[in-house]
Amino acid sequence: MTFTISVESSAIKFPCDRGETVLNAAQRAGYELPYSCRKGVCGTCKCRLVSGEMRAYSGDTLTESEKTAGQVLLCQARPRSDLVIAPREIKKVDPFARRTLTARVFRISRVADDVTFVHLRFPAGIRVHFKAGQNLEVILPDGTRRNFSMANPPHESDGVQLHIRHVPGGVFTGYVYDKLARGDFLRIELPFGDFALRDSDKPALFVAGSTGFAPIKSIIEDALRKGSMRQMTLYWGARTKSGLYSDLPRKWQAQNPHFSYVPVLSDTPEAGIRSGLVHAAVLADHRSLADFQAYVCGPPVMTSAAKRDFLSHGLPEQDFFVDAFTTRADEPPTSAH
Ligand code: FES
Repeated sequence: MTFTISVESSAIKFPCDRGETVLNAAQRAGYELPYSCRKGVCGTCKCRLVSGEMRAYSGDTLTESEKTAGQVLLCQARPRSDLVIAPREIKKVDPFARRTLTARVFRISRVADDVTFVHLRFPAGIRVHFKAGQNLEVILPDGTRRNFSMANPPHESDGVQLHIRHVPGGVFTGYVYDKLARGDFLRIELPFGDFALRDSDKPALFVAGSTGFAPIKSIIEDALRKGSMRQMTLYWGARTKSGLYSDLPRKWQAQNPHFSYVPVLSDTPEAGIRSGLVHAAVLADHRSLADFQAYVCGPPVMTSAAKRDFLSHGLPEQDFFVDAFTTRADEPPTSAH
C-alpha cells in the first residue's frame, strides 16, 4: 500500500510505501529534507505533522510539549494514511548531482590508534560536486549502507578523504581497520546531507568530537580557501591526545588571525590542552551564545548535550547545525570489489 505525502503550502507531493519512513520516501522521490543521524536521536529531521496518521514515536528525542504540538521525526515517521507535513526546509535535489560509483582506495593510513584515513579516487575523468560538510554512503555487497563524512574540500572533486574510526564490534569499520588496502574498491553513493556552512556574519563555533572533525575540516578548508574573513573557532575534543589526530587546526590558526583552535581532552590531562567535555569548553568561554552560529559533529550523546546547553545559553535554535554520527556495530562486507 502506498500513501501520499504532501508538503503544506506547496505543490510538492511524493509517494511513501507502507513501512517506509517519510525521509526515505522523500529522498527516493528526489527531495532533500534536513536530517543527520537517521536513527531518531539527533532531532534534525523534526517536522510538524499537519494532518494524517503515522505510527506512534515513543523515543525521548522530542519533548512531550513538542509531541503534543504535532512535531514528528521524519526519519522515524511511517505513515498509516496520507500525510500533510510542514518541514522547515525541503528542496529538489539535482538528479545529476548524486552519483553512484566504484572508487579505488588510493591511499590508506593509520593516523591514531583507532582512526584510519582512507583516500578514495573516482574513476578516471569523473568529478562529483558536493558541498563542504556533506557525507557519502558506502554500499556494502549485501546492500546495507554506512555513512561517512567527506573530509576533503569540494574543489578536490576527483576523490574523497574519509576519517574512519574503528568501532569495537563494528564489522565494517573492523574490516577497514584490519583488511582494506590500497587498490581495493568500494561502491559509494554521494553526496548526502545538509551539514554545511550557512551564509551569515555571525561568528561560527565549530565543535567536533573525535572523527566529527572530518566534515568540519572540509567546511573550514573551503571557507579559508574562498577567503572568508568570518570569525571561526574550532573546539576539537577527544579522550586522549592521539585522538586529536591532525595538526591542520594549528596551521590554520597560525596563518589566519580570524581562526582560533581550542583542543580539549576529556580523559587524560595534558599540559597546554584544556580538560573536560568539548561543548563545556565553549560554555566556559562564552557566557551567551546569542550572537553565534554553532556547527556540531560527533556522537549523539555529545551533540544532544551541546544542543541542550547551547540553546539554554541563548543560541537561537535556527543557528544550531548538527551532524550526529551513530556507532552501531555494523554488518560484514562479503567482499570489497
Ligand atoms: S532524529 Fe531524524 S535524522 Fe536524527
